Amino acid sequence: MSRLVQSEPVARFEQVGLRYRSGPEILRDVTLTLPAGSFHFLLGPCGAGKTSLLRVLYLALRPSRGRFSLFGQDVAAAPRAELVPLRRRIGIVFQDFRLLPQLSVQDNIALPLRLGGRDEEAIRSDVAPMLLRTGLTGLAHAFPPELSGGQQQLAAIARALIVRPRLLIADEPTASVDEPLALRLIHLFQELNRLGTTVLIATHNERLASGFNHPRLRMEAGRIVQEGTVPVDSPPNVRPPVGSSTSVQEALP
Ligand SMILES: Nc1ncnc2c1ncn2[C@@H]1O[C@H](COP(=O)(O)OP(=O)(O)OP(=O)(O)O)[C@@H](O)[C@H]1O
Ligand SMILES: [Mg+2]
Repeated sequence: MSRLVQSEPVARFEQVGLRYRSGPEILRDVTLTLPAGSFHFLLGPCGAGKTSLLRVLYLALRPSRGRFSLFGQDVAAAPRAELVPLRRRIGIVFQDFRLLPQLSVQDNIALPLRLGGRDEEAIRSDVAPMLLRTGLTGLAHAFPPELSGGQQQLAAIARALIVRPRLLIADEPTASVDEPLALRLIHLFQELNRLGTTVLIATHNERLASGFNHPRLRMEAGRIVQEGTVPVDSPPNVRPPVGSSTSVQEALP
């Protein structure tokens, strides 16, 4: 994998607009830079366009207008084949999980490694600590339909982290979990961020986001209405709950 030039932003949106087919513009004049190593929350009401923005970011959709570059590459101009290696640097936690129901939890988590051609021994040595860290060891052989919503959420997060992504995109990753687990998940993302991963988390949970000292981007009706600076009087980063041993350093071999 080529190394990123430190000063190069991971993603840059310039006046980006997006339509689904011939419908109305869902993203409008989005101009946004995600510097390498940054950590942002993306807030906004239902239907504001958060998931649509993330779809552009993880290359599922190309903008209808404007410019979008990822890892320094102009996406609009790039042939599809050139986007494949860019896509491999991204870990995604989907709003609807997208676990494969016919695969066990451990095989769902291992899937991106298998698709990347890793050998089985290396896969086993990566997946076991990830199961442990996300508390899913006992469910390794269970299938997604047998899991609670929160457990599916954890499996989806483990699958996104297993590739040690340069960019982690999480769409409502705390929607199905209780408050203590939500905090632990954000801490997991923070530790990944400390190791250099750029993180963007879309969430409705204003209270959760305001408990952390990370910039907040706000969307309304397809526009970024507030470039997220952290208020001066904002609280310091919330510490892990007592007894929490969440550590991506340990979790990621
Ligand atoms: N595949 C699609 N085809 C057509 N319109 C879509 C599609 N996906 C989303 N939209 C529309 O785009 C707008 C923004 O939706 P989006 O899912 O991006 O919002 P969101 O901010 O993620 O909402 P939520 O907080 O409910 O997840 C909505 O009006 C929605 O109906
Ligand atoms: Mg959404």
